[in-house]
Amino acid sequence: MIIMDDKELIREAYKVQAYSYSPYSGFQVGAALLGRNGRVYTGCNIENASYSPTNCAERTAFFKAVSEGEKEFVKIVIVGNKKGASEEERDYCAPCGVCRQVMAEFCNPKEFQVLLAKSETDYRTYRLEELFPFGFSKEDL
Ligand code: THU
Repeated sequence: MIIMDDKELIREAYKVQAYSYSPYSGFQVGAALLGRNGRVYTGCNIENASYSPTNCAERTAFFKAVSEGEKEFVKIVIVGNKKGASEEERDYCAPCGVCRQVMAEFCNPKEFQVLLAKSETDYRTYRLEELFPFGFSKEDL
């Protein structure tokens, strides 16, 4: 049963954003992913001195979930801003192309919801198919 409402999920994303390891960009991202099983998997971005090993918050959340046995998902909340940004400076943080590809691996693009939040009450909801049209997936193989 799904008991998480959007506001609670946004709160989870903000909580984990605080763990962002982003000394190079100073851009802190948090994600909260709701599994079909009702569990929430959170993730932050984790950077690296060699730059390319950097993992986005969304993929951290997905990889945690899959490695803990969940492969079906309902929605994800993403929050992201420069460290120390004021409320006014915050904007909607859209997922990068690589993260959209990972979402498409596990989620039905017509159903999976991507919520981009600026605050607990100010957020936009998209279907994955809007953010990732004409993507490559296992059906193409
Ligand atoms: N980042 C994410 O974690 N998710 C996004 O959706 C956009 C970008 C991270 C990667 C890097 O650590 C920092 O934000 C700047 O690109």
